[in-house]
Amino acid sequence: MPKRFHPAIIALLIQIASTATAGTLMSMVTVHASLFEWAILQGLLAGLLSFLAKSPVWWVPIHFLFMPLVIITLAFDISATWYLVMFLGLLLIYGKSFVTQVPLYLSSETVNQALETLLPKQNQFTFIDLGSGCGGLLKNLARIHGNGSFHGIESAPIPFVISKLRSLFDSDYDVHWGDFWKHDFSRYDVVYAYLSPVPMDSLWQKAKKEMRPGSLLISNTFVIPGVAPDKSIQLNDFSNSTLYLWRL
Ligand SMILES: C[S@@+](CC[C@H](N)C(=O)[O-])C[C@H]1O[C@@H](n2cnc3c(N)ncnc32)[C@H](O)[C@@H]1O
Repeated sequence: MPKRFHPAIIALLIQIASTATAGTLMSMVTVHASLFEWAILQGLLAGLLSFLAKSPVWWVPIHFLFMPLVIITLAFDISATWYLVMFLGLLLIYGKSFVTQVPLYLSSETVNQALETLLPKQNQFTFIDLGSGCGGLLKNLARIHGNGSFHGIESAPIPFVISKLRSLFDSDYDVHWGDFWKHDFSRYDVVYAYLSPVPMDSLWQKAKKEMRPGSLLISNTFVIPGVAPDKSIQLNDFSNSTLYLWRL
């Protein structure tokens, strides 16, 4: 598949192609099979197409299971309103992650502790968490580092509202609703990112352009392709996180 297609579009095309193929076969052959059995055939075709399209391996079981699970769920006769409610709920929690390819997952306690030790103890500094989730990391760091000015930017509505409420009633940090790609990094001494492999190259281009000499870019887990970090710190948490540090 050409690289310019977004993974969600590829997934949609695979589902459409396999459903159309299974539907055509269903109308042509006289085999007596249940709708569920046809859904399994559709799933097998979708899994095969996903494999042939060289999608990441986890897409194969997702494609295989999608239509059989749709048929099973329809058998429960759940009101369509619930599907809408669940869809809107996911949209509010995950925002545009189907576009950004950066979903919500939170930095571990071990990452929080490691960051505490990396930040200046005495000097004033500014820190931003790109995609600050529910604000937990900012809350912990702001409590410990009274010498720091902590900022976050988050695009998903529910995590943003949670972090905003926390900032009002709890620790001293600022959080904005928005897109960090439109935000200027030059005001910060430390830029922290816990994103995904997808945006790392663009993040580096933006950091090189905007961050001040001597400022620090820290990425949790995800490396910048082709740019060796100045330091990496392996942590012993549930996801074996590594912090990668680049001094601009
Ligand atoms: C992996 S989570 C990290 C949450 C938090 N920084 C932490 O370490 O616990 C990534 C977050 O980035 C947000 N995000 C992704 N792209 C974004 C963008 N362009 N602008 C603002 N937030 C974004 C997602 O909504 C998600 O909440």
